[in-house]
Parts: sequence; structure tokens; C-alpha cells
Amino acid sequence: MNISKAIMERRSIRKYQNREIPRELLNEILEEALWAPSGTNRQNWYIYVVRGEKRDLLVKAMEGVIELYKPKLEKVFPEKMVNLTLNFFQTLGGAPVIILVYIPLTGVELRPEMTGQERYERERERFVNLLSAAALVQNILLLAKARGLGTCQMTAPKLKEDLINEIIGVQDKELVSLIPVGYPAQDPPAPPRKGDRIHWLGFA
Ligand SMILES: Cc1cc2nc3c(=O)[nH]c(=O)nc-3n(C[C@H](O)[C@H](O)[C@H](O)COP(=O)(O)O)c2cc1C
Repeated sequence: MNISKAIMERRSIRKYQNREIPRELLNEILEEALWAPSGTNRQNWYIYVVRGEKRDLLVKAMEGVIELYKPKLEKVFPEKMVNLTLNFFQTLGGAPVIILVYIPLTGVELRPEMTGQERYERERERFVNLLSAAALVQNILLLAKARGLGTCQMTAPKLKEDLINEIIGVQDKELVSLIPVGYPAQDPPAPPRKGDRIHWLGFA
């Protein structure tokens, strides 16, 4: 699949077929995704690929997210959208596999007694790691699309990050994204993109 097509036709998929994904296919996607750029080539990212019992536990952990997220959604979405979103959280769309992307846990607590340099160093580490992980995640989404798989990058699960980390057995790492993966059971329309986001300076 050509890259423009993968970018334009990738959608966040919130309903998946009850169909296993071959491990080799997932491995191909992830090995290629790891060619993402990273700050000073740190490659400071960690990928967990989860199926079976632990996948079920992750879905169960989403119950807690719903409670915390509902009031936020109600502020920005109409009722139908709120219900659709909450339903997705409840099941993660039936995705057979969940991919979690982490970065190292770096304290970014900015305290007044720190020097300006200390504050910058602390922020910088996390900033660079986050941007690098975001590039990795985008690669995963596009490579999955190109191989007929659906995905949905999610950050709302961070509301239950401690529980998720306990299920995965992760310590000293920060969750960047939880990504359900599966063969799509829907073909959602593309949400419109906003105009006026590109500013041309010095062009006619
Ligand atoms: C950083 C980030 C966080 C997101 N978190 C969630 C989420 O928690 N739950 C969800 O259903 N979708 C989530 N999404 C998906 C967006 O809602 C989706 O990308 C957007 O509506 C555009 O739709 P599209 O991906 O189909 O083009 C997230 C996307 C990004 C980039």
C-alpha cells in the first residue's frame, strides 16, 4: 500500500472481528515500526503485545476509565457519541490483541528549588521520549493499516495507568498509548480535518 493511501485511509477502529492475528504478522509490523526516528537515536521505548488472559484483564481495567472519563466526554460530545465511546471502552471493540507503548519513567515534577537547567533537563528527557514514541506509534498504526489490520491509539487508559502497569508487570515506565489491534469490523467515515492549520511564510 502506498504511504499516502495508508495515511489518508487509516481510521481509528472501534469494532474488531473475533479473529486471531498471526504472531508473525504482528512481529513484522513491530520490527518495521522500530525504524521510527528517535531523539539522539535513544530508541527509548518499550512495546508490550498482549493477548489472552492479560488482554482480558486490560479490558476489565477499562471499567475504571469509564467512571472517570464519562463526565469529561459529556462536556464535549453529544449523548450518542458519549455512549458509543463508553461502549468502546467497555470492550475495547473486541480487539484480540492490545499493544502498549511505554517510555522510561522520568520525573518531570518541577520544584521551585531546582535550577532552571535541572528543570529543563527533566522536561527534555520526557519530551524527546514522548515525541519519539509518538513516531513509533504512528508507524504501528500505518503498518497495521497497510496489512489490513485496524487500530485505535488511546491515551484515556492512562486514567488507570497504575492498574494497567500492575497487570503488565511494568515498573519505572510511563504508558504512552494503549492500542487495540484487530481485523476491522467497521469502516468508519473520516472525521473532517480542520483547515487553516498550515501557515506559509515567504511564499507567493
Ligand atoms: C494522542 C491520541 C490519543 C487518543 N486517545 C483516544 C482514546 O483514548 N480513545 C479513543 O477512542 N480514541 C482516541 N484517539 C483517537 C482519536 O479520537 C482519532 O484519531 C480522531 O478522532 C481522528 O479520527 P481518525 O483516527 O479515524 O482519523 C486518540 C488519538 C490520539 C492521536
